Amino acid sequence: MAVQLAARGCAVGVADINAEGTAETARLVRQAGAQAEEIVADLTSEGGPEAAVQRVVDRWGGIDALVNNAGYGVIEPFLDSTYKAWTRTLALNVTALAMACKAAGRVMRDQRSGRIVNITSPGSRMALPDYTAYTASKAGVDSITRALAVALAPYGVLVNSLAPGMMDTEMQRSTEVDLARINGRSGDLQAFLDERTRRIPLGRRAEISEVAEAVVWLALDAPPYMTAERLNMSGGLDKD
Ligand SMILES: NC(=O)c1ccc[n+]([C@@H]2O[C@H](COP(=O)([O-])OP(=O)(O)OC[C@H]3O[C@@H](n4cnc5c(N)ncnc54)[C@H](O)[C@@H]3O)[C@@H](O)[C@H]2O)c1
Repeated sequence: MAVQLAARGCAVGVADINAEGTAETARLVRQAGAQAEEIVADLTSEGGPEAAVQRVVDRWGGIDALVNNAGYGVIEPFLDSTYKAWTRTLALNVTALAMACKAAGRVMRDQRSGRIVNITSPGSRMALPDYTAYTASKAGVDSITRALAVALAPYGVLVNSLAPGMMDTEMQRSTEVDLARINGRSGDLQAFLDERTRRIPLGRRAEISEVAEAVVWLALDAPPYMTAERLNMSGGLDKD
């Protein structure tokens, strides 16, 4: 997402807890010819999201688009739920996202322009008993997106979300390894993954780059009458 935004001429603030990943992403942004601000931050810390937004405002004098992408999820059968998993999931996926939305939303309100894109999940509308903290957190993202879209509409600020389908990222891989384990399928992991892929109507997993394209479209190109939308990029997995 950062690299595609950079290719479109955007200066990009990259905020992540992973210092190495942040530095690498910033390097790729600069390689694409754009300015980058490396913001290594635990977004679940109190004031962390607000400080990240402030770094961008201090450097470039405003903020045109906020993409809330950092996320966390862990497989845990609901009846074995732990406080730790629930609080960690909600702290990042809901509270940090809400605080980042608040901080950027205030700047965008004063600018009378801006776009916010929140990354949700098809799971937010599914019944997944082994992944309930995550799906509940993404239902929270949907709720925040709708409410903020209304709050910021008078200022011409657009707030939308995007539900990506299965992408082979680190989080997806560790989630599916755990899912295979609790389903007794660790021994034939590849067959288990293939079965899951076949359930996607388009018959394949999402390329990260095509999900990024849709995020860039929402952040830069979507018509200005589109707000409070939840864009489905799940290859047909999400049909509601
Ligand atoms: N991979 C999928 O199939 C899939 C499907 C639907 C939705 N999503 C959503 O897409 C987004 C990106 O997920 P991903 O699959 O690339 O996962 P990922 O784990 O590869 O990336 C998540 C990023 O969040 C960062 N992060 C974690 N905790 C943080 C913290 N406390 N503060 C700051 N940064 C932190 C990580 O360092 C990492 O760079 C998430 O919101 C996820 O819920 C992913």
